[in-house]
Amino acid sequence: MHSTKVWHPFDVIEIEKNLKIVHAEGVFLYTSDGQKIIDAISSWWVNLHGHNHPVLNQALFGQINLFSHTLFAGFTHENAEILSQKLCEIIPGKADKIFFSDDGSTAVEVALKMSLQYWYNKGQRQKKKFIAFKDAYHGDTFGSMSVGGRSPFNAAFDNLLFETEFIELPSNDNINRVSDSFHQLIASGNIAGFIFEPLVQGAAGMRMYKAEHLDRLLNIAKNNEVICISDEVMTGFGRTGTTFASEQLQIKPDIFCLSKGLTGGYLPLGVTSCSQEIYNQFHTGDYFKNFFHGHSYTANPLACAVAVASLKLLQSEEVQTQIHSLASHLTEIKIVISEEGVFEDVQHKGGILSFSYKNNLPSNYSNPLRNKLYHYFLSKNILLRPLGNRMYLIPPYCISKDELNYIQEVILGLKEARF
Ligand SMILES: Cc1ncc(COP(=O)(O)O)c(C=O)c1O
Repeated sequence: MHSTKVWHPFDVIEIEKNLKIVHAEGVFLYTSDGQKIIDAISSWWVNLHGHNHPVLNQALFGQINLFSHTLFAGFTHENAEILSQKLCEIIPGKADKIFFSDDGSTAVEVALKMSLQYWYNKGQRQKKKFIAFKDAYHGDTFGSMSVGGRSPFNAAFDNLLFETEFIELPSNDNINRVSDSFHQLIASGNIAGFIFEPLVQGAAGMRMYKAEHLDRLLNIAKNNEVICISDEVMTGFGRTGTTFASEQLQIKPDIFCLSKGLTGGYLPLGVTSCSQEIYNQFHTGDYFKNFFHGHSYTANPLACAVAVASLKLLQSEEVQTQIHSLASHLTEIKIVISEEGVFEDVQHKGGILSFSYKNNLPSNYSNPLRNKLYHYFLSKNILLRPLGNRMYLIPPYCISKDELNYIQEVILGLKEARF
């Protein structure tokens, strides 16, 4: 029984007590009882450049000394302007406007509302359903849960979630079938949008799929008046080897949702981008066609300041080199662990490596091996939060070769662990 008053999120892993972090630096987290832990999952996929980064710290202090927050309706500030400008330049799609929110879930929520109201404002009110991938995860608010796969996690709310059409993740085996059923769903004429994580489904177990398969679906969507929403909350900012996973697509999405790495893992911030054409449907002179959405901390100046600095770092030669060497090191680890009989379904893309520990139980989030695996890695000073029996690495880009070699050694040690 914990004496603390804090209710922690996702407290599904059995632990004696929550580890208390007192300091963090680079890839390391330091606990109050002296443990030094490698953050191999970038603290829930947010950290890009390492903890306690001098450049990001400086950006934050600089802004604190000016002002920390103002409302964003009727007001603006320099870093929100710079960040929007930069994002519109680098987002691989028609990004003309940036709408700010607080986190990944709200960035998705905004994308869904924006799409629905776009069709509503245009008088096409029958278009109010979304298509998403089975097992998708897009956040924990009601809209984002509604476009997420149905699972025991959202079963309590099932009757309150809006109806979504789910399709299988495409593969070489099913792509014809998936695109046929996608086409049929769209032919109903009531689909507002298609939401997807490009190339890697994060919370579903870092499951990867081909750009050419997604392109095939996007082509159908684009030819049939369906808004394509790229949820790059996890894949954005270099994780798949390119700044955005959608850069690897031929057909570019209409709306992007970004968060997590946006501030380099410093502060919560979400953005949703859209084209001028979408924006125009909300600015027709008709008051009731406005987008009535906004959060108190919208475009928080501290978060925007650190996001501008993080983006600059990301584009530097040094960090681009780190991203490439991380990707090639993970390719090597993939080869090594693929040869070990205890692992299966080893997948790699850019700075993400995922693999499952073979066992007799169904390979899903509820697989009880997650406790044993979590504690095994922690006992070796590595933070890795398995999704059931599925493990993944998604470290900050500054991780060194020695640290990756050590992680590989510990993964291979699982052969003797006999869970
Ligand atoms: C792809 C994706 N979308 C949305 C979210 C929700 O983001 P947040 O936890 O910041 O609300 C997540 C979180 O893991 C995510 O991975």
